[in-house]
Amino acid sequence: MTANYSTTQSGAPVASDDHSLSVGTDGAIALHDHYLIEKLAQFNRERIPERVVHAKGGGAFGTFEVTADVSRYTRAAVFQPGAETETVLRFSSVAGEQGSPDTWRDPRGFAVRFYTTEGNYDIVGNNTPVFFLRDGIKFPHFIHSQKRLPGSGLRDVDMQYDFWTLSPESAHQVTWLMGDRGLPRSWREMQGYGSHTYQWINAEGERFWVKYHFHSDQGVHSLTDEEAERTAGEDADYSRRDLYENIAAGNFPSWTLKVQIMPYADAKHYRFNPFVLTKVWPHSDYPLQEVGKLTLNRNPENFFAQIEQIALSPANLVPGVGASPDKMLQARIFSYPDAHRYRLGANFNQLPVNTPKSPVNNYSQDGAARYHFNSPSTPVYAPNSVGGPAADPTRFAEGGWETDGELTRSAHRLHPEDSDFGQAGTLYREVFDDATRERFLATISGGAGAIKSADIKERAIQYWTNVDADLGAKLRANVGAGVTESRAEAATKF
Ligand code: HEM
Repeated sequence: MTANYSTTQSGAPVASDDHSLSVGTDGAIALHDHYLIEKLAQFNRERIPERVVHAKGGGAFGTFEVTADVSRYTRAAVFQPGAETETVLRFSSVAGEQGSPDTWRDPRGFAVRFYTTEGNYDIVGNNTPVFFLRDGIKFPHFIHSQKRLPGSGLRDVDMQYDFWTLSPESAHQVTWLMGDRGLPRSWREMQGYGSHTYQWINAEGERFWVKYHFHSDQGVHSLTDEEAERTAGEDADYSRRDLYENIAAGNFPSWTLKVQIMPYADAKHYRFNPFVLTKVWPHSDYPLQEVGKLTLNRNPENFFAQIEQIALSPANLVPGVGASPDKMLQARIFSYPDAHRYRLGANFNQLPVNTPKSPVNNYSQDGAARYHFNSPSTPVYAPNSVGGPAADPTRFAEGGWETDGELTRSAHRLHPEDSDFGQAGTLYREVFDDATRERFLATISGGAGAIKSADIKERAIQYWTNVDADLGAKLRANVGAGVTESRAEAATKF
């Protein structure tokens, strides 16, 4: 935009931004006041659907520099020695809507895009290393239970605990959520995790399993429940403001990327099923190895165009990285591009923030709001004999894994030490310190104490008893299990 006079969308200079065209000073408005009508119509279309989850967030651009040699594990261009890659990172909370306070207790999204020389690579993770579920078929139910009651439009602790206690695989992530990680002091002061197990493939075609950890160079700091509640009232956009103002002041936040690498063959016999998203790999089994440094150094110029319209997706993989047998990851690989087509339209990848910095060569064409197109001499079909782009199975072969089963609907295979509550108990007993355990008990006492149904409250106490017997006893002493509402009454609300 260079002209200093107002124009219509089609560029014609206009006579007034103050007065509609009317028949006499007090007369009816003329339908041919195109500028007025265009202005009102455009305004009515300013909102697009918010993300169905992770609606409230913020983000910034930066660079990723490789600082260690991991080329023996992956041939991905972004992780080769010396590589420096432009990035963008969007942070978010999960259950709240666009205007919700940044400091409500929730996991935080940590979604990174690397604009690599071989396409966009996105790691769409959270500030926790695990998740509530291990099969994507439960995701819509889980999110419904965390959002709002259909009648009143209110959030409801009974509904949340009803789902969690009937889905015991959630216990590990709920333990993270009710601990200090559920209330990070800022987006700058929290870790990021890829959470899923992904595959890395090296130049020789050897395969490895990998987990990503982004360690905050600002340290990890949390708010107390009281601080979070107060901040929610005082400044609902606290985290968005903190990120923006720090970057604007030249205080650039950074994260050190580390990975855990598991040799391909270990997966079959490891003590935990390594593809189950409710489990971590203890660092004593697979130590962290440094890869590089991610620094955020540039604020968006336009929040809507560059942050709201970003379409981050676990489907955006590049040569040298791949998916894994994790059923959650596989569900996500379908879900995100589908959400983007709905939220942004079929040509969402042509929006500037989503356009790769590397060539895009394919035979897709047309669709609403098409911007890029092939030259007229490019054929519109493949295979062709006239030199159109062709896939290269030798240079760009994907990884993969063996499967040998019948079609079935069942949970992931249990490995010797797999249990829903085991790692949650270890987190509570061995990772939390005394002060953290005290805050944790206060938080879950507040939550369980607010449950109205006696049946669900009893199940909540049992759930935490399964995580740790002593914790369960303390919780029971704090909240009891008084009858406040019958199960039948509670059921009418869901
Ligand atoms: C956003 C689905 C699990 C992290 C979203 C969106 C959908 C979705 C539809 C909105 C995308 C958009 O409109 O741009 C699912 C499904 C899951 C799942 C179906 C399970 C099968 C997870 C897990 C994580 C995660 C396990 C983290 C480890 C995120 C993040 C965003 C997001 C960070 C926001 C991305 C952004 O900043 O634009 N999810 N999700 N999700 N999800 Fe998930």
